[in-house]
Amino acid sequence: MIERLSTGVAGIDGLLEGGVPRGFFVAVTGEPGCGKTVFCIHFVARGVEEGDRCVYVTTEEAAESIVRQAQLFNIDFRSAIDSGRLLIIDAFSGGSDRWALGRLEVEDLLEKVIEAKKELGYGRARLVIDSMSAFWLDRPAMARRYSYMVKKVLGKWDFTALAVSQYAITTSEAFGFGIEHVADGIIRFRRAVRGGVLRRYVLVEKMRQTNHSLMMHLVEIHPGKGMVIGQPAGVGREDVALPGEVSRRVLRAKRRAEGEAP
Ligand SMILES: Nc1ncnc2c1ncn2[C@@H]1O[C@H](COP(=O)(O)OP(=O)(O)O)[C@@H](O)[C@H]1O
Ligand SMILES: [Mg+2]
Repeated sequence: MIERLSTGVAGIDGLLEGGVPRGFFVAVTGEPGCGKTVFCIHFVARGVEEGDRCVYVTTEEAAESIVRQAQLFNIDFRSAIDSGRLLIIDAFSGGSDRWALGRLEVEDLLEKVIEAKKELGYGRARLVIDSMSAFWLDRPAMARRYSYMVKKVLGKWDFTALAVSQYAITTSEAFGFGIEHVADGIIRFRRAVRGGVLRRYVLVEKMRQTNHSLMMHLVEIHPGKGMVIGQPAGVGREDVALPGEVSRRVLRAKRRAEGEAP
């Protein structure tokens, strides 16, 4: 029986036979604004609830910003930090705080995460690196080697990890192919404007040892609540809607038919 960790988002657990296998190193991928950070916050919040040691590395926004974002979903990271269940490593703000990461170097990252794990203590642990891409933006060729290093070293510390890989807005490609090749799983978020509305989606592209869903699902983010998974995207009206000119012709024909009706 495989031990699975709930992701904290019931709808995503549902796509994964209950959750992510313990010890896995999972890539969370997608363009900006598609819900990667929100998903990671839920994953850590669930860890805190279950008594896991939790470490959140943030490179795109300050630790305080993560705490505030969580608060909007009624997740209290402040008391999780105060009670020693969560450590946020801030690689964004700079400064010389003990849990600040001065340089975006993979060696420094590993050292700091291990220090954090020692501080939190023995036992099952969760790690978020949001994002990993930040560590090789200026040297994408190193992505794979660095990813391998991080997975290998941190695997020894009982972490189940989410590593965020950012995709460019223009090309929807990763900044250097690394994490995806090394990862035990890939959870792909995306977004699209349909009928003038921004929609978000999630697709499990890979999860070893798991009979995962192969369907893309709608993702909603609700104030006070956070991420909720909706219906499979394929059954949505927007996917069966006909192209503009075709539907106009159908409509004209329908009106004609109605006009002629006795
Ligand atoms: N309190 C909230 N209520 C509703 N939606 C929110 C709230 N907070 C954030 N969001 C949504 O989440 C989006 C940010 O998602 P995020 O996970 O940070 O994206 P990224 O993939 O770049 O990490 C925002 O653009 C907004 O649409
Ligand atoms: Mg983010």
